[in-house]
Amino acid sequence: MPSNRLPMATSSFFFPLLLLLLTFSDLFVQTRSLNFGINYGQMADNLPSPSRVAALIKSLNVTKIKLYDSDPNVLSAFSNSDVEFIIGVRNEDLPSLRDPSKAQSWVQQHVQPYISQTKITCIAVGNEVFDYNLSQLTVNLLPAMQSMYNALVNLGLAQQVTVTSAHSYKILASSFPPSSGAFRQDLIQYIQPILSFHSQIKSPFLINAYPFFAYKDNPDQISLNYVLFQPNSGSIDPITNLHYDNMLFAQIDAVYAAIKRLGHTDIEVKISETGWPSKGDPDEVGATPQNAETYNSNLLRKIEQKQGTPANPSVPIDIFVFALFNENLKPGPVSERNYGLYYPDGNPVYNIGLQGYLPEMSFDSKSNVLSFNLVVYIFTFLLFTWELSRQ
Ligand SMILES: *[C@@H]1O[C@H](CO)[C@@H](O)[C@H](O)[C@H]1NC(C)=O
Ligand SMILES: *[C@@H]1O[C@H](CO)[C@@H](O)[C@H](O)[C@H]1NC(C)=O
Repeated sequence: MPSNRLPMATSSFFFPLLLLLLTFSDLFVQTRSLNFGINYGQMADNLPSPSRVAALIKSLNVTKIKLYDSDPNVLSAFSNSDVEFIIGVRNEDLPSLRDPSKAQSWVQQHVQPYISQTKITCIAVGNEVFDYNLSQLTVNLLPAMQSMYNALVNLGLAQQVTVTSAHSYKILASSFPPSSGAFRQDLIQYIQPILSFHSQIKSPFLINAYPFFAYKDNPDQISLNYVLFQPNSGSIDPITNLHYDNMLFAQIDAVYAAIKRLGHTDIEVKISETGWPSKGDPDEVGATPQNAETYNSNLLRKIEQKQGTPANPSVPIDIFVFALFNENLKPGPVSERNYGLYYPDGNPVYNIGLQGYLPEMSFDSKSNVLSFNLVVYIFTFLLFTWELSRQ
C-alpha cells in the first residue's frame, strides 16, 4: 500500500521540513537559562554519579543547586560550570562549629579547595534546626553561623560566600491571612538575633514551604486549585487588601510579615525548598503525578515570568525546587521518597516541559547533548516523512 503513494510523499516534502524547522526553533526556545534552583539531595543508594548529574543539570540549563552537605565529588563535578551552589552544614556539626577554629577548618576543607572552580555562593548552616527542639541545636545555631561568617571574612571569602540557615515553615505560629504572619513565641528569643545577623551581613532568610502539607491535612477545606497555582478566586487579606490566588505566595508574604513584626524590612526571603510528591501513602491526599506536574510546571512559569509576591511585587521569587531525584532512602511516609523531578535512571517522573538528558557515562556533556538532540530530531523528521508517505 505505501509504495504506490511515494510521489505524494515527495510532493509534500515541504511540510515535514517545516515541522522540522519548527521543532528546531522549539529546541532553541527550550534551551533558555532557567532561573530556578534545585535541591540535589542524595539520600539514596541508586543515584547516578555526580559527573552524569552535572551533564543532566547542564542540559536542563538550571543555574542554582542546593546541597545538604558539601560533597567534594559534586563540587568537583561542577568545576568550571556556571552553576551556583548553596552548600550545607549538617545539624550535628553545629555544636562544634560554634568554635571559631573549627569553623575556619571547615571552610578551609569544604570551601577553599573548590571555590576557584565551582561557584559556591552560600553556606546553609543547618536544616530545619528548630523542628528538632534540641537545645544543643537551637542554642548553637546563631553562634555557628557567626563563626562560619567570621571564618569566611578571615579567609577573604566573605564577598563571594554568604551565610544563612534553612528553616521549616513550622517556625511560624500564624500565617493566614499573610499580614498576620508571626513566628512561634518560644522561638522568638532565637530568631530575633538571627534576623539581626542576616540584616548585618545582608544574607537572605531561607524557608522550606510546602503547600502540599497544608492541603493533605485539610483537603476538604483547602482548594486544590489554590495550592496548585491554577485559576481560582483566591482571597483578600483584610488588613492589606492584597489579593492572593495561590498558597505559596501567601506563605512567603506571611514570612515577610513575621520578620517585619520583629522589626526588619531589610531581609530578603528565599524559598530553599518547595515541591509536590508524585506518590504517597493512601492517607496522603493529593500526592499524584498529575498534581506534582501541575504544581511544578506552574511554579516554573511564575519563576520564568519573574513574578514577585503581592506584598513584594518587584522582588522576583527565588526558589529551590525539591528535588532533583526521588530518594529511596528517605525515612517517613511514601511521599518523602517521591518528590523528585527525575527517577535515578534519568527518566522524568512527569513532564514539566524541561528537556533533560542524563548521559550513559561521563563525557563532555554539551556537545553530546546537542548531538543526542540532533539524532532525536532527525529521527522525528524521518518518521514524519514516512508517516506522510503512508497516506
Ligand atoms: C542556557 O541559557 C543561556 C541564557 O539563555 C543560553 O545563553 C545558553 O546557551 C543556554 N545553554 C544551554 C546548554 O541551553
Ligand atoms: C521542647 O522541649 C521542651 C523540653 O525540653 C518542652 O518543654 C517544650 O514544650 C518543647 N517544645 C515543643 C514546641 O515541642
